[in-house]
Amino acid sequence: MTTAVLERPTRDSAATADAAPPVLDVRNVRTEFKTHGGPLIAVNDVSFTVGRGRVLAILGESGSGKSALLRTILGIQPRSATITGQALMNGVDLITMNEREREQTRGSWLSMIFQDPMTALDPLFTVEQQIVETLRRHTDVSPATAAARALELLQLVQIPSPERRLKAYPFELSGGMRQRIVIAMALACSPSLLLADEPTTALDVTVQARVLDLLKELSRTLGMSIIIVTHDLSVAAAIADDVAVMYAGRIVEQGPIREVIRDPQHPYTRGLLGANVRPGQRERLAAIPGSPPNLARLPAGCAFAPRCDVAIERCAGGMPELQLTAPGHLARCFLVQEVGAMSK
Ligand SMILES: Nc1ncnc2c1ncn2[C@@H]1O[C@H](COP(=O)(O)OP(=O)(O)O)[C@@H](O)[C@H]1O
Ligand code: SF4
Ligand SMILES: [Mg+2]
Repeated sequence: MTTAVLERPTRDSAATADAAPPVLDVRNVRTEFKTHGGPLIAVNDVSFTVGRGRVLAILGESGSGKSALLRTILGIQPRSATITGQALMNGVDLITMNEREREQTRGSWLSMIFQDPMTALDPLFTVEQQIVETLRRHTDVSPATAAARALELLQLVQIPSPERRLKAYPFELSGGMRQRIVIAMALACSPSLLLADEPTTALDVTVQARVLDLLKELSRTLGMSIIIVTHDLSVAAAIADDVAVMYAGRIVEQGPIREVIRDPQHPYTRGLLGANVRPGQRERLAAIPGSPPNLARLPAGCAFAPRCDVAIERCAGGMPELQLTAPGHLARCFLVQEVGAMSK
């Protein structure tokens, strides 16, 4: 990349999502770690796009490579990781950009929130000091403007008595309130894309639902795209427009979430959904017998084969490609046509 200063992305309305180019275009991304057990491929040939103002859920069990994928896109993997592929934003590849260029993208192009709000908050500083610090690090606003913006941000994330909360320390706030503060900090520089890694897992169910509603509303009103990583189907169903189901580092099914829930094509997705889930229902993941494979010792062939109750001989011999099963709906399974036919 040769540009010294990265242009800020323009922000159209969310209504133009379909016509506009994707906010993020991920192509064949692969992340490999060296481990004592040998090379471990945490992210394997992953491709997807996120449209403007769209919410994409990355859904999968623990250890499927979801966090590794987000960290790869954000450029926070250890130097020892071998990363290939492209993650294009505004025509620029996030994967090959250098640290200085990356610093310019953080906050305004993309921003990340993690599962535990306490890791993102400093216990020694007030909410106001932390938001002001974030703003001053990424922009050249005056202290007074930053303080005014901090108040606006607390209002944006619907925190009651925001003036009072600005003066509070993190330990004085509830878990739900702290996560709203973290979201406010992530929004400080108006990112085009928010990456959220299990942002509600540490919260109880009622608070979780409110935080998800807030994220969805922010996506709509600000035209901001979101990638949310979750192991919980009910979270994905509550917030996402699109879903990518990950298994053993690969996407095994992707498409509009209503379509995937209505007519899942991959045996793993079917297992996640259980027998009785219908669009709009909030069900927890049904347990799938067996456990996810060790990514450093993947079986030959389809990685789901040892747990798949419809596997055939061919499944142990090679990895199926992602195939289009309906417009915008892809699945990676040798039986995709038969399985699809069975569901009709
Ligand atoms: N920095 C790393 N070094 C070695 N292995 C890693 C590293 N980060 C993640 N992994 C491995 O990659 C796999 C996927 O992990 P992760 O992306 O955290 O899964 P998920 O978020 O879906 O639970 C796991 O086997 C994990 O141990
Ligand atoms: S390719 Fe074979 S083992 Fe893999 S999910 Fe499909 S049927 Fe099951
Ligand atoms: Mg994770």
